[in-house]
Amino acid sequence: AFDIGKLRDQTGYVTYDPGYKNTGATKSAITFLDGEEGILRYRGYPIEQLAEKASFLEVAYLLINGSLPTQTEFDAFRYEITQHSLVHEDIRKILDGFPSSAHPMGILASIVCSLTAFYPKSISPELNKDELNLNIVRLIAKLPTIAAWSYKNSVGHPYVYPRNDLDYTANFLYMMFSFPTEKYEVNPVVVSALNKLLILHADHEQNCSTSTVRLVGSANASLYGSVSAGINALWGPLHGGANQEVIEMLEAIEQDGGDTSKFINKAKDKNDSFRLMGFGHRVYKNFDPRAKIIKVAADEVLQALGMQDSPLLKIAQELEQAALTDQYFVERKLYPNVDFYSGIIYKALGIPTEMFTVMFAVGRLPGWIAQWKELRENKEPIGRPRQIYVGELERDYTAIGERA
Ligand code: ACO
Repeated sequence: AFDIGKLRDQTGYVTYDPGYKNTGATKSAITFLDGEEGILRYRGYPIEQLAEKASFLEVAYLLINGSLPTQTEFDAFRYEITQHSLVHEDIRKILDGFPSSAHPMGILASIVCSLTAFYPKSISPELNKDELNLNIVRLIAKLPTIAAWSYKNSVGHPYVYPRNDLDYTANFLYMMFSFPTEKYEVNPVVVSALNKLLILHADHEQNCSTSTVRLVGSANASLYGSVSAGINALWGPLHGGANQEVIEMLEAIEQDGGDTSKFINKAKDKNDSFRLMGFGHRVYKNFDPRAKIIKVAADEVLQALGMQDSPLLKIAQELEQAALTDQYFVERKLYPNVDFYSGIIYKALGIPTEMFTVMFAVGRLPGWIAQWKELRENKEPIGRPRQIYVGELERDYTAIGERA
């Protein structure tokens, strides 16, 4: 029988905190988050100001380097990024090897990890500042190309090479939607909405994927290997994968006849594992400040694209209303989160559903890099949680023929 006293004698005391709900795993100077008040700041700057005024690359620079760039610093940073946006031609061969049914997140994680093979020096834990910066720039520069090509591969279309005259966000859209035979006209409303979305996703302190990046990085693993692990964590439907699930849920409700109350009741039924995707958050228990900004952006984009009457939007609005008035959601403080609205915007922008989480990964990249860099600079110890052992205490081996 399990004897907690005996176990304590063997292991000493450990804190039991499943899901790390109350465990501060690190000290960080990157992102401030107050879940009760709904506050989010990057390096002290309110998310509302950054989403309104900054470009995504400026925010990336801020997160990674700690301060907003001067014009000269920004121009140099942007120039470097454009110089590295091409990927090695052999990456095309790896991409070609994936079946078209492959989910782009799986491709993204694999190709990012494969960068360690193309840049073998990147795995050294002893890189100097310039070498480290080069790895960082390479990753920021190449991720949109890899992401867009993973999409092109999944639909069997020819890859489109990056254009250095376009800004980061516009270039990504161009590589996604252009064909050799038909150039994609970059729509400024779309670029502005995407820029905002990427900024809102850029960091979120010690969330699941970022903690993964830090944990893997704490073993002195490379930047590319650590970020690849973070991409896999983000893929999970309870994390970044929720934005894809939101649209799939809205479509399922529509196909079922559009009765939202049926699905709300399902979500409330404790014998049913169904959850309303895009509702609830581990940290924000009043509202998600990012969701507030995105909701306005979603309205603007849908207006600008003439899609304000879409049936999916109507279903989304009904769910949103229910969450604000239904006792079940109010009591548990389950508000629409950032993924609820980001899925709607991505859908309106014509981004394929399977690419939603990839878009999130492109946005989250600067945060992962900043957190990995901070971990290294602070020389943090290897992450190694303990456990409460609840298995058999001790038993004797029996030969296979003698087992019951
Ligand atoms: N629909 C219905 N009920 C829910 C939902 C939901 N979306 N979310 C939580 N609940 C209920 C739980 O059943 C639980 O009820 P109980 O107290 O009666 O048992 C209560 O609310 C608390 O839920 P927990 O799962 O304990 O909350 P936790 O903080 O662990 O989980 C999470 C947060 C994972 C985000 C959860 O709310 C969820 O699964 N949401 C849907 C998925 C989603 O949108 N994920 C994206 C998160 S944002 C991001 O990653 C960028």
